[in-house]
Amino acid sequence: MTKTVILTGDRTTGPLHIGHFAGSLRNRLSFQSDHGQYLLLADSQALTDNTHDPGKVRRNVLEVALDYLAVGIDPDRTTICLQSHLPALAELSMLYLNFVTVARLERNPTIKDEIRARGFGRDIPAGFLCYPAAQAADITAFKATIVPVGEDQAPLIEQTNEIVRRINATAGAGILPEAKAVIPKSGRLPGIDGKAKMSKSAGNAIALSASPDEIRAAVRAMYTDSAHLRADDPGHVEGNVVFSYLDAFDDDLEAVEELKARYRRGGLADRAIKARLEAVLQNLIAPIRQRRMEIAQHPDHVLDVIRCGTAKARERTEATKRQVVEALGLFLL
Ligand code: TRP
Repeated sequence: MTKTVILTGDRTTGPLHIGHFAGSLRNRLSFQSDHGQYLLLADSQALTDNTHDPGKVRRNVLEVALDYLAVGIDPDRTTICLQSHLPALAELSMLYLNFVTVARLERNPTIKDEIRARGFGRDIPAGFLCYPAAQAADITAFKATIVPVGEDQAPLIEQTNEIVRRINATAGAGILPEAKAVIPKSGRLPGIDGKAKMSKSAGNAIALSASPDEIRAAVRAMYTDSAHLRADDPGHVEGNVVFSYLDAFDDDLEAVEELKARYRRGGLADRAIKARLEAVLQNLIAPIRQRRMEIAQHPDHVLDVIRCGTAKARERTEATKRQVVEALGLFLL
């Protein structure tokens, strides 16, 4: 029986934060015990909206790899590889662009949101508009059928599968497998300011490498319920960032439900729920930060992990590319 293959990746634009942890790192950790898993350091994709600062994209390759290793990704069981050094991905992307229309790319809800957020207006880099085809190449080059991602990536997996169906219709059924997104039930973790998306650039994230002081300051600044002025007032739990985080990271579900009930009734201070959350986050991040510091002492080791992983990934992705070129019936030399 062939093993289920899992692929996912991260743009190398900054260190990962606890939103990544809740969104997909936790799922990746649970998958690495019994599946063939690949993690892509997506530097080419990062460049699609960072041509003004390629240095940032380069520097963060090691940072993201460090985050992977620090949270417990085991390079013996998960292959960590670098997107820009896998030429088959770029070659497949070029082929796939013929199986998707510009109109369809423009309709992708994630792309639409991102174009708005970046203020591109009419000046959208072509590479940015087309990155869903490149992401389809990433996923299919590994023949991945499981893609653990945050909620925002679902439209990209959907578009991948559309491209897959079109290619299979031309090249032959079963050439490429369709993929399934695995998305955490808890939904997306908001930023500490209550905005829907946590991101380093918006300054509303808590990094997985955050110091104890940074964690404390972030929790203190966190939005709760602006109508909850006194501890005795009844408060809202929905849309309250502190409770969203407790839901995502506090293992004692029963205690959290009890706190929610008390908060709704009135009689529970913001200070109290923040103290609990701070303890939860300090406990979550402390061992990650510690391991990260230890691993960062040996950058050569991290480089080796990426080099070996990329070599292994190169074989797999080249094989798929050859298969697709052949199945499409292109000239072979
Ligand atoms: N688009 C993903 C993100 O922004 C990164 C990514 C690149 C990816 N290639 C991928 C995710 C392939 C899953 C599968 O986080």
